[in-house]
Amino acid sequence: MFDGPLAEGVVGRAITSGLVSVDRHDFRRFATDKHGSVDDYPFGGGPGMVLKPEPLFAAIDDLKARDEIDDSTPIVLLTPQGRTFDQSVAESLASADRVALICGRYEGVDERVRTDLATDEISIGDYVLSGGELAAMVVIDAVARLVPGVVGSAGAIDDDSHTSGLLQFPQYTRPASFRGLEAPETLLSGDHARIAEWRRREALKRTEARRPDLLRSADLSENDRRLLD
Ligand code: 6GU
Repeated sequence: MFDGPLAEGVVGRAITSGLVSVDRHDFRRFATDKHGSVDDYPFGGGPGMVLKPEPLFAAIDDLKARDEIDDSTPIVLLTPQGRTFDQSVAESLASADRVALICGRYEGVDERVRTDLATDEISIGDYVLSGGELAAMVVIDAVARLVPGVVGSAGAIDDDSHTSGLLQFPQYTRPASFRGLEAPETLLSGDHARIAEWRRREALKRTEARRPDLLRSADLSENDRRLLD
């Protein structure tokens, strides 16, 4: 599942150029029985299977023994029950040297993995995925692009939606006139102060219309409040 996303685009280039590394570990290697099982029936009954603790604890112990991670490494369990992933979580993970991501699978994970192995639990949103792999790839992408040098020039990510706590302003490129639809005159004016003000106002307007929840926690200046009014 990981081959495509790790080979392509911004993340692919970050890995090729050595700015980011992603190692994958199959915890089935650490299964303790001869059948290589990593899951078992839930105590108390019920449908589905539960990921056993031993292979996951052994996989993390092995990474520690080989100094791939240490006691300060965040160990994140991807699970729909985790705290919701957002840009500020991405930023805090990006500040760690390394992050271990555990992809939950099947219908559940033994509770002792949560309480005594994982240091954090993350969900990427309020919907159900069949496993944590896609969620891990989302986290890897969002975190990798925050590593210095991964995305173009410094400042290239500052205007992204969510980086500033607001949605991004509308963007236009050539042609200025397309099927009778005109790019805003201000953007063609070359007046950088007017352009900056227009973009800020549009970002505020769009955020208010689509995500008023973001506006409530955004860091707004006097001028922003005036523009909003
Ligand atoms: Cl992290 N895992 C699964 N299985 N489903 C999810 C999720 C994670 N985040 C949202 N839905």
